[in-house]
Amino acid sequence: VLSLKALLLTLLLVSGERAIAGNAERGKALYFGKTTLSAQVSGADLPGQRNACVSCHRHSALGGFEADLVVPAIAGRFLFQPASPLTGHSLPWAIEQQERPAYTLDSLHEALTTGVSPAGRRLRSVMPRYQLTREDVADLSAYLSQLDGRVPPGVRDDKIYLATVITPDVQETDSQAMLATLNAFIRAKNAATRQELARSRVSARSQQQMYRNYRSWELLPWRLTGAAHTWPQQLETLFTQQPVFGMVSGMSGADWSAIHRLCESRELPCLFAQLRQVPQLTEQDTAFFNVYFHSGLATHLSVAEHWLKSKDVMHYQLQGPLPAPTQLALLNQNSAWLSDELASSVKSKGAVVALVKPQPDSSVEVSIGQESIRIADAPPAVVNARSNAWLLKNGLAHLPTRITGMALQAVTAMAEILSHADLSFSAAYCLERLEHGLESMPNYTGYERLSLAPGQRFAAKGSFVALGGSQQWTWWQP
Ligand code: HEC
Repeated sequence: VLSLKALLLTLLLVSGERAIAGNAERGKALYFGKTTLSAQVSGADLPGQRNACVSCHRHSALGGFEADLVVPAIAGRFLFQPASPLTGHSLPWAIEQQERPAYTLDSLHEALTTGVSPAGRRLRSVMPRYQLTREDVADLSAYLSQLDGRVPPGVRDDKIYLATVITPDVQETDSQAMLATLNAFIRAKNAATRQELARSRVSARSQQQMYRNYRSWELLPWRLTGAAHTWPQQLETLFTQQPVFGMVSGMSGADWSAIHRLCESRELPCLFAQLRQVPQLTEQDTAFFNVYFHSGLATHLSVAEHWLKSKDVMHYQLQGPLPAPTQLALLNQNSAWLSDELASSVKSKGAVVALVKPQPDSSVEVSIGQESIRIADAPPAVVNARSNAWLLKNGLAHLPTRITGMALQAVTAMAEILSHADLSFSAAYCLERLEHGLESMPNYTGYERLSLAPGQRFAAKGSFVALGGSQQWTWWQP
């Protein structure tokens, strides 16, 4: 649905000397590099994906930092308005970017092809010079304008709906522990919201912040039933009945891909589900809106790699089902997956072959001869002083700390990203903020450290390791 502003803008763009109606779908393909753009940076051709606008201006088109460089917001409502020091004050803008007239289709074409802004300033050379037709620019404009005025699902003036998904294989006691944590957090948050609301009625200044913080949260437990192939339909039905802004925590020992896909297609931030295994994705799947604690096997294997290297092991073998090709690609040239047959032929040539055995609890056991290590994404009992204090205060200290700690992390991360949601609640922008903010948030989990970088969707970069049958778990980060 086009907002009035976007509609006016479209009219404005087509009222130039030569009327061009932009095709937002095609503009989106250009923006995300699905349609190849030809560009030059400092005279050299910029290859492939890197010249897609998304790689610098981000999914939200609200820009961000690239090392010491400020990439400006180019969503329609910024681009087609004059920039002043007050524009987008909560966004990163460099001083010289703060003053320029509104872009028109012509001046945007000029800027993108020659690098001269409507203020007559030469844009820095990092911003590529593109070979684009006026049609291309009209399409890009149509897409960028369409980003405005879209209120995400599940957001009302006074309320934000969130969901937490529980698949039928989950033990009732486990899901209760998760729900008790989420509900305790949300109760406290909503109580604070009521106070802020009362205060805002007497203070004109805080009225401005209305848009931002003063919404209460409502959490919907979405309990899936039956066979996994029926989940996509169940999720669609639940979402249609009550749209949600995003998903917080959630629990499953089964395949999570139905939930992952719903969140990608509906653009719902899905934060930190408690899973046995990450979803099995295909080349067609995107992975922007889903954030996970741990990648499981993929990280375990790089930890295994690290250990095996120190042992001078050249090759190792997996017993059991082979992982998806994406995980295969993570192995370096010293290692390869070998079939039993190949392994014995390599062995007969004198090479040491290690065995990597995935265990039912999603840990792996790696062995060479008599030596072995166990690699897991979380040790059996997690002690985290910070989360213990919170749990004690909320009367939840008797619940399994692994579950409660992870649930607390998920809901804290949701609160963090929603506190930045003043920019029309762009879900994409919220996730981009989390990429930077996660590291400085309190860590309530047993993971040593949680962090993300642009594009990264697994927050724990290491695994827990126990040497040869011991129960002494230590954190290894390759
Ligand atoms: C390699 C990173 C990169 C890519 C790719 C990129 N940009 Fe930029 N863009 C920048 C930077 C950095 C600036 C700021 C330059 C300056 O202010 O000197 C910028 C500035 C701009 C501006 C000027 C904004 C203003 O307020 O004056 C526009 C418009 C723009 N980019 C559009 C696009 C579009 C459309 C694409 C894709 C076709 C794109 N950019 C691709 C990095 C990039």
